[in-house]
Amino acid sequence: MKGIVAFDSMYGNTKHVAEAMAEEIKAQGHEVVLINIGETLKLEADGDFILIGSPTRMKQMTFRTKRFVRKARKMYAGKPGAAFETTLRAPTDPEARAKASKWIDNAAGTKIKAMAEEGGIRMFPEILTAEVVDTYGPLMPHTLDKSREFARRFLASL
Ligand SMILES: Cc1cc2nc3c(=O)[nH]c(=O)nc-3n(C[C@H](O)[C@H](O)[C@H](O)COP(=O)(O)O)c2cc1C
Repeated sequence: MKGIVAFDSMYGNTKHVAEAMAEEIKAQGHEVVLINIGETLKLEADGDFILIGSPTRMKQMTFRTKRFVRKARKMYAGKPGAAFETTLRAPTDPEARAKASKWIDNAAGTKIKAMAEEGGIRMFPEILTAEVVDTYGPLMPHTLDKSREFARRFLASL
């Protein structure tokens, strides 16, 4: 099969996640096209599935990710897809976690999933949330392993 992994990234964290997933898809014997939405919105229609990810900014996907999803859902309706996001790490203290909820829960990935689903892409129920330690990164430890495992679970669902 041929997979598309599309991502936006300001500081490189979401890019690392996308690259890890693309590597895993390749390692599982598939062809993969990696699209950096910050560089191009070009998308070919011949993929068998599509993964789309964005950093979370003010609870949303980036503006250009939105444009990309709008385009992707026209071309990939009926095909399987999955969403991923980077967010700030969740505080461990329960009170702080509850306060942070409005920024880190139902973030970019949830919005990508909903928008893609609305356009008919058959979205994987699970969203990959990759946390960054601080605004500019780095990713929390083991995030790339988590990303590869997510890609494996998604492939197994096809
Ligand atoms: C202007 C701005 C707004 C942000 N808003 C949020 C937010 O609402 N929720 C959140 O979890 N992270 C927020 N972040 C942190 C981003 O999640 C983090 O910068 C991003 O995941 C890094 O990914 P990237 O390196 O791929 O750009 C924000 C960061 C910036 C710079």
